[in-house]
Amino acid sequence: MVKICCIGAGYVGGPTMAVIALKCPSVEVVVVDISVPRINAWNSDHLPIYEPGLDEVVQQCRGRNLFFSTNVEKHVSEADIIFVSVNTPTKTRGLGAGKAADLTYWESAARMIADVAKSDKIVVEKSTVPVKTAEAIEKILTHNSKGINYQILSNPEFLAEGTAIQDLLNPDRVLIGGRETPDGQKAIKALKDVYAQWVPEERIITTNLWSAELSKLAANAFLAQRISSATGADVSEVSYAIGKDSRIGPKFLNASVGFGGSCFQKDILNLVYICDEVACYWKQVIKVNDYQKSRFVNRVVSSMFNTVSGKKIAIFGFAFKKDTGDTRETPAIDVCKGLLGDKASLSIYDPQVTEDQIQRDLSMGKFDWDHPIHLQPVSPTSIKQVSVVWDPYQAARDAHGLCILTEWDEFKRLDYEKIYESMRKPAFVFDGRNVVDAEKLRELGFIVYSIGKPLDPWLKDMPALA
Ligand code: NAD
Ligand code: UDX
Repeated sequence: MVKICCIGAGYVGGPTMAVIALKCPSVEVVVVDISVPRINAWNSDHLPIYEPGLDEVVQQCRGRNLFFSTNVEKHVSEADIIFVSVNTPTKTRGLGAGKAADLTYWESAARMIADVAKSDKIVVEKSTVPVKTAEAIEKILTHNSKGINYQILSNPEFLAEGTAIQDLLNPDRVLIGGRETPDGQKAIKALKDVYAQWVPEERIITTNLWSAELSKLAANAFLAQRISSATGADVSEVSYAIGKDSRIGPKFLNASVGFGGSCFQKDILNLVYICDEVACYWKQVIKVNDYQKSRFVNRVVSSMFNTVSGKKIAIFGFAFKKDTGDTRETPAIDVCKGLLGDKASLSIYDPQVTEDQIQRDLSMGKFDWDHPIHLQPVSPTSIKQVSVVWDPYQAARDAHGLCILTEWDEFKRLDYEKIYESMRKPAFVFDGRNVVDAEKLRELGFIVYSIGKPLDPWLKDMPALA
């Protein structure tokens, strides 16, 4: 029986290993992590992450050929294939701070593997890493290798949160990079055999290590730059029209209050760090995205008579996209901080994000979020002007304005007449995700701003934006 161990039971390690276990009943999969609460949660009825379809997959495999454990060293030493899926945050200090990846967690995982291994290992880079990380890791592993043969593979993950299980079951492609030596090719084949149990052969691409590492960063950078910024035109019409060009394609052209998530900004910064000449271009992609968020805040404040001081504003959605509880780099953080900066009081509703998480996010500094969950402060002093509620109608009651920051489907189905009745007048809706029917809401009496759409006639007369 092939034994797989995955170091890192996070958004990638957990779902990816669950699907491997589901599709490869003859493989034993153990996911290990240094975070005790995380592993406990994986072994409970309340998994640590929300992902449609994940519960069912875990229920089918857990205890059969899928295990979660904090006994990192034991399972690493017993495994044939070790995936490393630890977090790779942006450095907060020292050389390359704010740009380069902090490989502390990766390095400590690699040193641990070198310490405990007693047999040959295939070590798979699952985390997104800067190019050439595999080479550095190889050095750590082979230095003092006690005669053990290590093969490093790069197998970047392309799943998107909210659709992780679908993406894993039916990937556009699986990418495996390895050494061009006979041993390297043998290792590639061993990993390919795992995926080939459910992924069609032609979708499994094999390359050298560098190409695989760079492809991941480049893919995320390309996706991030596609998310267009809003203009005076109707952005949905523009996206539809240009997306019909088969060279461009229809996906990933939805304007929003800005892209978020743990990957895009971090991976672009990584690319910026390694390629000086084109760095300006990619930096600009992040700058435009930051501008999207501050522009949205400006729009809210200027529309509400240039001040939100003391006004209650309801926030619908805090996660960085729908169908996830993940809030890493969510645009909601910047928007809420911007509104708090103008002394608004916020009432936040998100179906999957807890009060504790929101308070933590709003009090944390930039880049501080990507540290292991067990190192984050559990109960920060809460921000008084922020309340978190589990009911959207309660969030909207007595509010002057309502901001939609995540595209949860349920926001389309709310009773906006009831919401309108309960709000202060004039009642504003700022739709940062284009989820509501602006015309219908206007008929109810709302003043509506939808991202990337022509302005509400009422708002046209308001002061110009920066
Ligand atoms: P995460 O923070 O959810 O999970 C990482 C886990 O690794 C944490 O639970 C942490 O406790 C654990 N860990 C850290 N050091 C460890 C060690 N030495 N030993 C054992 N466990 C350790 O992160 P994630 O979102 O799963 O991302 C992991 C990697 O995958 C990152 O490099 C990320 O860029 C990449 N990635 C993420 C996504 C995504 O959508 N989240 C998609 C593709 C790739
Ligand atoms: C991304 C990549 O898509 C995935 O391949 C990679 O493995 C990890 O990073 P993820 O961050 O989970 O995945 O979600 P994604 O669907 O890419 O969305 C990222 C952000 O862009 C979200 O905030 C989303 O709301 C926003 N977005 C996406 C838009 O604003 N408009 C779009 O058209 C698409």
